[in-house]
Amino acid sequence: MSLWGGRFTGAVDPVMYEFNQSFKFDQRMALADATASQTYARALAMSGVITVDECNTLVEGLETVKTEWTTKAFVAKQSDEDIHTANERRLGELVGSVAGKLHTGRSRNDQVATDMRLWLRTEAESIRDLLKALIQCATARAEAEIDVLMPGYTHLQRAQPIRWSHFLLSHAWAWQADLERLIQLTDRFNKLPLGSGALAGNPFGIDREFMAQDLGFSGLVPNSLYAVSDRDFVAEFMGWASLTMVHLSRVSEDLIIYSSGEFGFVQLADAYSTGSSLMPQKKNPDSLELIRGKSGRVFGNHAGFMMTLKGLPSTYNKDLQEDKEPLFDTVDNLSGCLQIMTGVLSTLKINPAKMKAALSVDMLATDIAEYLVRKGVPFRETHHIAGRAIKVAEDRGVQVSALTHADFLALNPAFESDIVALWDFERSVETRNVAGGTSKSSVLGQVRGLKEWLSGI
Ligand code: ARG
Repeated sequence: MSLWGGRFTGAVDPVMYEFNQSFKFDQRMALADATASQTYARALAMSGVITVDECNTLVEGLETVKTEWTTKAFVAKQSDEDIHTANERRLGELVGSVAGKLHTGRSRNDQVATDMRLWLRTEAESIRDLLKALIQCATARAEAEIDVLMPGYTHLQRAQPIRWSHFLLSHAWAWQADLERLIQLTDRFNKLPLGSGALAGNPFGIDREFMAQDLGFSGLVPNSLYAVSDRDFVAEFMGWASLTMVHLSRVSEDLIIYSSGEFGFVQLADAYSTGSSLMPQKKNPDSLELIRGKSGRVFGNHAGFMMTLKGLPSTYNKDLQEDKEPLFDTVDNLSGCLQIMTGVLSTLKINPAKMKAALSVDMLATDIAEYLVRKGVPFRETHHIAGRAIKVAEDRGVQVSALTHADFLALNPAFESDIVALWDFERSVETRNVAGGTSKSSVLGQVRGLKEWLSGI
């Protein structure tokens, strides 16, 4: 028997039944649902709606339901419309008619909103750990490989020499911001909707503060209409996941390029590569390509759900059931991508010789300009002079480092014989010793900063 059949005489069309049924996917919230029901039973007893004995019966029965879920012993019935009706149906089989008192003053509307938040909170905690592990992996590598230099790029054109560690940490800092945002948004959605009823509030004097505490929420959703219709937290989480996936996608793209034969800066471990069925020599970075590809899918989940929400009238509408599949899919894919990225990064081989070989002296043109600035020439002029030095070398078919002191003097009288000290990538990198720069001390400062931040969360 369905939970809402009283005013119906006709049967539901079988296709409609399938269409409406969410049990096939929302059973993922089984434990959250039973836990929230246990708290609700306690609250019912506190307000005198049920006796303490009845409450104990319900709480124990729900414990058995949970065990059935965790041991995969829960037997679903064709009539289980969603996880809420399924758990209550099973509770009834276990404890008898007292199960019918559990839903007093409650609606599936405040129930589902509560379950979703509980479920997402648990998932967010795991994702937090995965992000933390990824940042730790990048930080450890950055520290260990601090002496490796490589070209830094803008427009994918060689720009200035940087430390490989600096590059790694550029991504680690993006993940740090992602993790910080995740913590903040989790605090925002960790509020209790239960006690809002279908929409107008609970008429049995239920203690919502008690329920919030019992379920580990930091407060209440302060308006019952908002509580049952709000899926902001789902949208916000998926928006957050989209940005996090964009970050994962961008580092994937970097490493895909760096692993190509033309660059050869890095080599993916066999564990995260696949071969070609036709070309025996191929080793493809499928792991990273999949992360890049899945970022589109996660963004699609977010965009699609925004369309679902847009224009819904107050308060609960069945459209809201469409929140689950994209959210679950987002959580699954993001978790997978984070694990794979950590695996790729911790097993990646780097080729410092190739990175070094890709450094060219023209990448020190900015250093020539800076050299003159230090001799008192205004930067706008030095930029021009350095550009001319590059041009002279190019016209002669030599590196700029092959020009003589006399050649430089012909361009500007401020050049001294110490100009030769400039042809040193390490020196160039070490001059950028500002906080956040690419010098060794700056990069190690970033390592410390990340470690400290991680130990504080
Ligand atoms: N399965 C529903 C959902 O996910 C539960 C809430 C049903 N509420 C209702 N008034 N039909 O949204």
